Amino acid sequence: MSQLDLVTGAFSYTGRFVAPRLLARGRQVRTLTNHPDPTSPLSGEIEAFPFDFADPGALNAALRGVDTLYNTYWVRSTHGPASFAQAVGNTQTLIEAAKAAGVRRIVHVSIANPADSDLPYYRGKARLEEAVRASGLSYAIVRPTLLFGHGDVLINNISWFLRHLPVFGIPGDGGYRLQPVFVEDYADVVADAGFSTDNVVRDAAGPEIFTFEELVGMLREAMELHTSLIHLPPALALAGTRLVGLMVRDMVLTGAEIRGLMAELLVSKEPPTCPTRLSEWARAHQAELGRRYASELDRHYRRAVAGAQGR
Ligand SMILES: NC(=O)c1ccc[n+]([C@@H]2O[C@H](COP(=O)([O-])OP(=O)(O)OC[C@H]3O[C@@H](n4cnc5c(N)ncnc54)[C@H](OP(=O)(O)O)[C@@H]3O)[C@@H](O)[C@H]2O)c1
Repeated sequence: MSQLDLVTGAFSYTGRFVAPRLLARGRQVRTLTNHPDPTSPLSGEIEAFPFDFADPGALNAALRGVDTLYNTYWVRSTHGPASFAQAVGNTQTLIEAAKAAGVRRIVHVSIANPADSDLPYYRGKARLEEAVRASGLSYAIVRPTLLFGHGDVLINNISWFLRHLPVFGIPGDGGYRLQPVFVEDYADVVADAGFSTDNVVRDAAGPEIFTFEELVGMLREAMELHTSLIHLPPALALAGTRLVGLMVRDMVLTGAEIRGLMAELLVSKEPPTCPTRLSEWARAHQAELGRRYASELDRHYRRAVAGAQGR
């Protein structure tokens, strides 16, 4: 009988790259999700349970028999019913439920540079790392920088705007750095972390560091575009993203995300752990890059209604 793991969000963005790696290593996989996807090639192989943080019995039933919990659950921003405080509370509930159900190990996805800062995303991540360490479970904490590849939001949508707008606004001087990591490399790190027995904390970060302006310029070049780049004061850039957000009916970039970017929080302080170079990937995928807008609100809010109705 093969061992059973649970990957939260196995049909969502990064979970869908982690789950196949576990299946390929002979594990059985369950998921907690509010978006079961019957069209996914994984759907026949993965048993889906709803996220039901208010029902300890349901959470316990989903986690019973699970050896390793791979936790990707988090929210990108406060929006509608979702908030960082709620995501912290829900994750603490999940960790407690895992303990109660006899889960052996947790691989918890955090973020590079979690800190007790005034940015609630990073503050919440720091608190949850503490909760994982204090849980008594065997643990690995994986801290990705900025993910790219097949279905990502930020790199894809920068590319979409470069394709669709005549002018692209760069917040501030564009000299702040970021270090993208390929989602398949990240999934290798996350899956491998489940098979170690050590308590570890590890960044998942790619080999290239770009300034924001270099990154946008590189994507523009990879797509052979001539979109003009202009520098805008951050407040004006935020107003601009809100305006285009109305156009695409999405939360394009929040003020807190712009502050996090400008504070270089998406750069690892460790040597790179992942091999794929965004500059090469972007050139190799230039035909598909930015062709389709990736909407955060469609993924997690509008589709949630359809998902709930479909169940
Ligand atoms: N994407 C990045 O560039 C990036 C960078 C650094 C760190 N991370 C971290 O990596 C982890 C996974 O990220 P991801 O991009 O794979 O996230 P995701 O696919 O958008 O979501 C991961 C999980 O969280 C749930 N979730 C997300 N937003 C939600 C909302 N508003 N309300 C309720 N549930 C919500 C999803 O539910 P469903 O299963 O129902 O979809 C899914 O199970 C997160 O912990 C994130 O902080 C991501």
